[in-house]
Amino acid sequence: MTSAVDLRFLVAPDVSARPRLQGRLRVPGDKSISHRSIMLGAIAEGETRISGFLEGADALATLASFRHMGVQIQGPDRGEVRIQGVGLRGLQAPDAPLDMGNSGTSMRLLAGLLAGQSFPATLVGDASLTRRPMRRVTEPLGLMGARIGTSEQGTAPLMLEPTEHLTGIDYRMPVASAQVKSCLLLAGLYGTGETCVTEPAPTRDHTERMLTAFGYSVRRTANRVCITGGGRLMGCRLQIPADISSAAFFLVGASIAPGSDLTLEGVGINPTRVGVINILRAMGADIELMDRRTAGGEPVADIRVRSAPLTGVAIPVDQVPLAIDEFPALFIAAACASGETILTGAEELRVKESDRIQVMGDGLAALGIQAKPRPDGIRIRGGQIGPGVVDAHGDHRIAMAFAIAGLRASGPIEVRDCANVETSFPGFAALAVRVGVPMRELRS
Ligand code: S3P
Repeated sequence: MTSAVDLRFLVAPDVSARPRLQGRLRVPGDKSISHRSIMLGAIAEGETRISGFLEGADALATLASFRHMGVQIQGPDRGEVRIQGVGLRGLQAPDAPLDMGNSGTSMRLLAGLLAGQSFPATLVGDASLTRRPMRRVTEPLGLMGARIGTSEQGTAPLMLEPTEHLTGIDYRMPVASAQVKSCLLLAGLYGTGETCVTEPAPTRDHTERMLTAFGYSVRRTANRVCITGGGRLMGCRLQIPADISSAAFFLVGASIAPGSDLTLEGVGINPTRVGVINILRAMGADIELMDRRTAGGEPVADIRVRSAPLTGVAIPVDQVPLAIDEFPALFIAAACASGETILTGAEELRVKESDRIQVMGDGLAALGIQAKPRPDGIRIRGGQIGPGVVDAHGDHRIAMAFAIAGLRASGPIEVRDCANVETSFPGFAALAVRVGVPMRELRS
């Protein structure tokens, strides 16, 4: 996809003075948690106050949708948001399609939340989002009695008809997806009886934690989570941790740039999100978790990372859902490691904001790294990253991953189609420059 603004990154290391990352930084708020804070705050009773909200385009798309449904929301102002909740039945019919932009989380979770409303709604998105599979949510929502139409290919726009009654279901997910799980739990708030979701592997549990913070009862056993419809959510205060998915670029950057010593402050270390730390440590990374604490029902720590020689690994399949958004960054770590890194069981990467296996494979090859994409993963042989031009295909995480690759490149790297970095990490380039990444933004 080509984004509206043409933004490119130019990373030009000075080969006489190798770059290294140093200092302390705080990356923006967690994207997954920011989306959920708006959704639950809107349908709670009373006021919800949020701090650390991610002011990126994806979370702002969720926020704008609820304004279009009559919810009073103040902010965001330096991460502070105040929501006057309207209760489970207080949303109003939007007078136009709700635009989810690039955000799969907005679309899939809102499909669940809106499935049981007494008004119709249409959810639309940009070209990338309109290619992504939506039957994974519309089919189980249909089993609950929802009436949702998709395109013939099972993609957006999603057309929701009013439904008076949803019925709870007991659903076993065929793919390990937090978005599907969350969608069904949100629909379950409007269902009669119990809604249970069983996951084939653990996925991020922010929805469950946040429902609990809003006073809603959630029952969890091993790989199954259940709620009963018809309860109430009570407005609360939420502090959103820094996003480990954004921190990942600096965890990799500091690991691969010799002489680095970087501390990332207040990063969420929810066990369902720490695959990137587990995998980097298995590769030999020097990562220390300091001052562990809890914020808004989520575990948080300062993360200190120092450079270390990395070795290729076979990534354990059980780590895949726990690192699902971090593979673009991890592939750069693999390109800088000695030996081969092998990823399997990760076919989901093909249906993210881009086909991340193919786009990363093409980009690595353009920089002289041996990368062999496979249907469910990739094999990457570490080597010398060369200069070159890489196309991020409008995928924010791919753009940032290749910017970080520049730390170890033998010449300049130009990354094209980077404007969507704004969806998850506004201010990425400025922050990266501040800690030592030799990069510039080029706009035309
Ligand atoms: C998300 C879940 C993940 C992740 C996405 C955010 C969420 O998707 O890739 O960026 O907030 O629930 P899946 O649940 O589809 O794997």
